[in-house]
Amino acid sequence: MAYSEKVIDHYENPRNVGSFDKSDESVGTGMVGAPACGDVMKLQIKVNPSTGVIEDARFKTYGCGSAIASSSLVTEWVKGKTLDEAAALKNSVIAEELALPPVKVHCSILAEDAIKAAVQDYRTKQQQTEAA
Ligand code: FES
Repeated sequence: MAYSEKVIDHYENPRNVGSFDKSDESVGTGMVGAPACGDVMKLQIKVNPSTGVIEDARFKTYGCGSAIASSSLVTEWVKGKTLDEAAALKNSVIAEELALPPVKVHCSILAEDAIKAAVQDYRTKQQQTEAA
Protein backbone atom coordinates (compact mmCIF):
# COMPACT_ATOMS: atom_id res chain seq x y z
CA MET A 1 0.00 0.00 0.00
CA ALA A 2 1.36 3.40 -0.93
CA TYR A 3 1.36 6.23 1.55
CA SER A 4 0.39 9.68 0.36
CA GLU A 5 3.06 12.36 0.13
CA LYS A 6 1.58 14.18 3.09
CA VAL A 7 1.77 11.08 5.26
CA ILE A 8 5.39 10.55 4.27
CA ASP A 9 6.20 14.20 4.93
CA HIS A 10 4.77 14.07 8.46
CA TYR A 11 6.32 10.66 9.04
CA GLU A 12 9.77 11.83 8.03
CA ASN A 13 9.50 15.29 9.58
CA PRO A 14 7.04 14.89 12.43
CA ARG A 15 6.02 18.21 13.97
CA ASN A 16 5.91 18.78 17.70
CA VAL A 17 7.26 15.46 18.90
CA GLY A 18 7.83 15.34 22.63
CA SER A 19 6.13 15.76 25.97
CA PHE A 20 4.99 18.39 28.42
CA ASP A 21 5.01 17.92 32.16
CA LYS A 22 1.81 15.99 32.77
CA SER A 23 1.34 17.55 36.21
CA ASP A 24 1.42 21.11 34.84
CA GLU A 25 -2.02 22.66 35.38
CA SER A 26 -2.04 24.23 31.92
CA VAL A 27 -1.41 20.87 30.24
CA GLY A 28 -4.03 18.36 29.08
CA THR A 29 -2.92 14.82 28.23
CA GLY A 30 -4.73 12.33 26.05
CA MET A 31 -3.45 8.80 25.87
CA VAL A 32 -5.31 6.35 23.68
CA GLY A 33 -4.77 2.97 22.12
CA ALA A 34 -6.21 1.30 19.07
CA PRO A 35 -7.39 -2.20 20.00
CA ALA A 36 -7.31 -3.28 16.35
CA CYS A 37 -3.56 -2.90 15.95
CA GLY A 38 -2.15 -2.14 19.41
CA ASP A 39 -0.82 1.27 18.40
CA VAL A 40 -0.66 3.92 21.11
CA MET A 41 -0.82 7.69 20.86
CA LYS A 42 -0.12 10.37 23.45
CA LEU A 43 -1.20 13.89 22.62
CA GLN A 44 -0.74 16.88 24.90
CA ILE A 45 -1.96 20.45 24.76
CA LYS A 46 -0.77 23.53 26.60
CA VAL A 47 -3.60 25.95 27.24
CA ASN A 48 -3.61 29.62 28.14
CA PRO A 49 -5.89 29.55 31.21
CA SER A 50 -7.15 33.10 30.76
CA THR A 51 -8.16 32.76 27.10
CA GLY A 52 -8.82 29.02 26.81
CA VAL A 53 -6.72 28.97 23.66
CA ILE A 54 -4.30 26.14 22.95
CA GLU A 55 -0.83 27.63 22.67
CA ASP A 56 1.24 24.56 22.03
CA ALA A 57 0.94 20.83 21.49
CA ARG A 58 3.14 17.73 21.60
CA PHE A 59 2.73 14.10 20.68
CA LYS A 60 4.39 10.76 20.99
CA THR A 61 3.01 7.93 18.90
CA TYR A 62 4.00 4.34 18.94
CA GLY A 63 2.34 3.21 15.78
CA CYS A 64 2.11 3.12 12.04
CA GLY A 65 3.03 5.90 9.62
CA SER A 66 -0.56 7.06 9.31
CA ALA A 67 -0.95 7.31 13.08
CA ILE A 68 2.26 9.32 13.35
CA ALA A 69 1.17 11.59 10.50
CA SER A 70 -2.33 12.01 11.98
CA SER A 71 -1.01 13.02 15.39
CA SER A 72 1.63 15.30 13.89
CA LEU A 73 -1.04 17.02 11.81
CA VAL A 74 -3.34 17.44 14.81
CA THR A 75 -0.63 19.10 16.90
CA GLU A 76 -0.19 21.64 14.11
CA TRP A 77 -3.90 22.23 13.69
CA VAL A 78 -4.87 22.76 17.30
CA LYS A 79 -2.36 25.51 17.96
CA GLY A 80 -4.26 28.77 18.24
CA LYS A 81 -7.61 26.97 18.49
CA THR A 82 -10.02 27.10 21.40
CA LEU A 83 -10.74 23.99 23.45
CA ASP A 84 -14.18 23.69 21.85
CA GLU A 85 -12.72 23.91 18.35
CA ALA A 86 -10.09 21.29 19.17
CA ALA A 87 -12.67 18.95 20.71
CA ALA A 88 -14.82 19.27 17.58
CA LEU A 89 -12.05 18.04 15.28
CA LYS A 90 -13.27 15.16 13.15
CA ASN A 91 -11.18 12.23 12.04
CA SER A 92 -12.69 12.48 8.56
CA VAL A 93 -10.95 15.84 8.12
CA ILE A 94 -7.64 14.27 9.08
CA ALA A 95 -8.20 11.26 6.83
CA GLU A 96 -9.07 13.54 3.94
CA GLU A 97 -6.11 15.86 4.44
CA LEU A 98 -3.72 12.90 4.53
CA ALA A 99 -5.57 10.96 1.83
CA LEU A 100 -5.76 7.89 4.06
CA PRO A 101 -7.11 4.71 2.49
CA PRO A 102 -10.05 2.99 4.24
CA VAL A 103 -7.85 0.49 6.10
CA LYS A 104 -5.99 3.41 7.67
CA VAL A 105 -9.01 5.41 8.79
CA HIS A 106 -8.77 4.00 12.32
CA CYS A 107 -5.37 5.70 12.60
CA SER A 108 -7.05 9.09 12.18
CA ILE A 109 -9.76 8.07 14.66
CA LEU A 110 -6.97 7.50 17.16
CA ALA A 111 -5.87 11.11 16.66
CA GLU A 112 -9.43 12.39 17.11
CA ASP A 113 -9.79 10.34 20.29
CA ALA A 114 -6.43 11.58 21.56
CA ILE A 115 -7.21 15.28 21.12
CA LYS A 116 -10.64 14.82 22.70
CA ALA A 117 -9.06 13.02 25.65
CA ALA A 118 -6.47 15.80 26.02
CA VAL A 119 -9.18 18.49 26.09
CA GLN A 120 -11.18 16.44 28.59
CA ASP A 121 -8.14 15.94 30.80
CA TYR A 122 -7.43 19.67 30.82
CA ARG A 123 -11.06 20.49 31.69
CA THR A 124 -11.15 17.94 34.50
CA LYS A 125 -7.98 19.46 35.92
CA GLN A 126 -9.45 22.95 35.77
CA GLN A 127 -12.59 21.83 37.58
CA GLN A 128 -10.50 20.20 40.28
CA THR A 129 -8.49 23.40 40.67
CA GLU A 130 -11.65 25.47 40.93
CA ALA A 131 -13.17 23.10 43.45
CA ALA A 132 -10.05 23.14 45.62
FE1 FES B 1 -3.27 1.13 13.86
FE2 FES B 1 -2.36 2.86 12.20
S1 FES B 1 -2.40 0.72 11.92
S2 FES B 1 -3.03 3.21 14.20
